[in-house]
Amino acid sequence: MEPAFNAAMAATEAKKSKLDAWAQEAARSGRPEAGAKHFAAGKGACLACHQVGAVGRALGPDLSRIGAIRTERELIESILFPSNTIARDYELHAVVTSDGRNHVGLIKSRGADGLVLMDAAGQLLTLPTTTVVSETQLETSLMPGGLDAAFTPAELADLVAWLRSLR
Ligand code: HEC
Repeated sequence: MEPAFNAAMAATEAKKSKLDAWAQEAARSGRPEAGAKHFAAGKGACLACHQVGAVGRALGPDLSRIGAIRTERELIESILFPSNTIARDYELHAVVTSDGRNHVGLIKSRGADGLVLMDAAGQLLTLPTTTVVSETQLETSLMPGGLDAAFTPAELADLVAWLRSLR
């Protein structure tokens, strides 16, 4: 257990120190057209949660203009370490209801009569205020880490170059 944990920690540290290098690589040699193809082909399952234009699912933030507000480094960091910084209004919440159930998801709306939660499968759940026992904001992102494993380093540079080109 411990050697595996230490190895995982060492791997995370190594990845962190590489963020700058990967961002530079994406800016220098990433090919946006190739990145668009990896995304469209479903590599890394990005489309399961993100929309670009008319394609994809609106679970995570719409990425149609993400390049206008995020640098290469921020994009790389979002993919490698989603929980480091969590996009506004996409924080994960755990809501316990009076029937003893624990619901985890994103809060889509909040009104006088309750809140609407979207779970990781994209299902909407309406929880009336009277049934909500507790509500906690979690520190982890709904976006899973390690999705970079679906790409070669060159493909990742292409993907980031493409995301950066979306303005
Ligand atoms: C299971 C759903 C899911 C998958 C799969 C997923 N994401 Fe995300 N992503 C999210 C959610 C939810 C957020 C918002 C919370 C956060 O910032 O971590 C997010 C945030 C992001 C952000 C930051 C957006 C911003 O406004 O700063 C980027 C960039 C991003 N994802 C890119 C990707 C890419 C590229 C892939 C595929 C390799 C991917 N995501 C796969 C759910 C997902």
